[in-house]
Amino acid sequence: EKGGYEHFMLKEIFEQPTAVFDCLRGRLDAKKGTITMGGIDQHLDLLKEAKRIIIVGCGTSWHAGLLAEYVLEELCRIPVEVEYASEFRYRNPVINKGDVIIAVSQSGETADTLVALENAKNQGAFIFGVVNVVGSSIARLSQAGAYTHAGPEIGVASTKAFTAQLTVLYMIAIKLGYAKGTLTKDRYQHYINELSLVPDKILDVLNSAGSIEKLAGKYQHARDFLFLGRGYNFPIALEGALKLKEISYIHAEGYPAAEMKHGPIALVEETLPVVFVATRDLYHEKLVSNAREIKARKGMVLAVVTENDTVFEEIADDIIAVPAADELIAPLISVVPLQLLAYYTGLAKGLDVDKPRNLAKSVTVE
Ligand code: M6R
Repeated sequence: EKGGYEHFMLKEIFEQPTAVFDCLRGRLDAKKGTITMGGIDQHLDLLKEAKRIIIVGCGTSWHAGLLAEYVLEELCRIPVEVEYASEFRYRNPVINKGDVIIAVSQSGETADTLVALENAKNQGAFIFGVVNVVGSSIARLSQAGAYTHAGPEIGVASTKAFTAQLTVLYMIAIKLGYAKGTLTKDRYQHYINELSLVPDKILDVLNSAGSIEKLAGKYQHARDFLFLGRGYNFPIALEGALKLKEISYIHAEGYPAAEMKHGPIALVEETLPVVFVATRDLYHEKLVSNAREIKARKGMVLAVVTENDTVFEEIADDIIAVPAADELIAPLISVVPLQLLAYYTGLAKGLDVDKPRNLAKSVTVE
């Protein structure tokens, strides 16, 4: 059942080219320049006119939601809020009729997410589900939705479900942006092409798994890790930190890189590895100077960079290169080495990577 892999987590990381492909299949047609999604097409007017979108989820699904906020605001110009389901359900949020809630959940059974949605639905919000498990409670409660089609995810760490969630959320944003007219035909076609190239680019990253395993061996004894990113890669920094802590039990924090100076920089010393998610984008130069600041304080720098980007060579202790992609789409690729880093670190420490202590695959009690 593990298909020759030592663990489900590794199998599921390696299934990502297929998971993303399956998620795109039958929906995105790069040649024709179309994205077909029943759940969107049937409610297009309602979605186009949404005054506000609220994305609700927990854990990794919340990280997918955070990235979707950046993408939806950029492409559709609709205000988006991202909420932890556990907070949203208790804090008496302002919900207006006409608000659209996007629920993100792999299992479709997370108790906090489910109750948050029930409350919002009772107050007149429209619920759109982005769910992996077909027929799950959240899928049934949703008034419309798009399944992620990632296949069963058994490892407690969410990996392929995350990249499939992002794929669906990107398709929604691209489709809606074009329908609204906030995205030009050229940009629309450009993003469609970029998305269609993602499975092969993830495969490229997987081919360098051996070098990431070596890095995991080198850094496995660290007590803490910092993950920094900006813009579209900020949610990936958070996700990298979450993966590492749940699988290797190393304390890790994700931060927007510029926040470093507002506190976390006090932690930097010789023993602290700092991972920069620094693929080429608008913020690249700023991340380069942040990395120099870490080095000046003797921290260790690991940089995830775009291939052929040589700028980090003289700064970083270690470099992980990933294929080039549009900056908006790049997170789908830059997260993969961080999943591998977490996996191999847990493995090096002899831990149960598929069933980390104290965690359940789906949190059905609050
Ligand atoms: O099934 P869900 O997507 O609703 O689960 C949400 C979180 O419990 C889940 O993503 C959790 O954070 C994972 N263990 C992360 O790897």
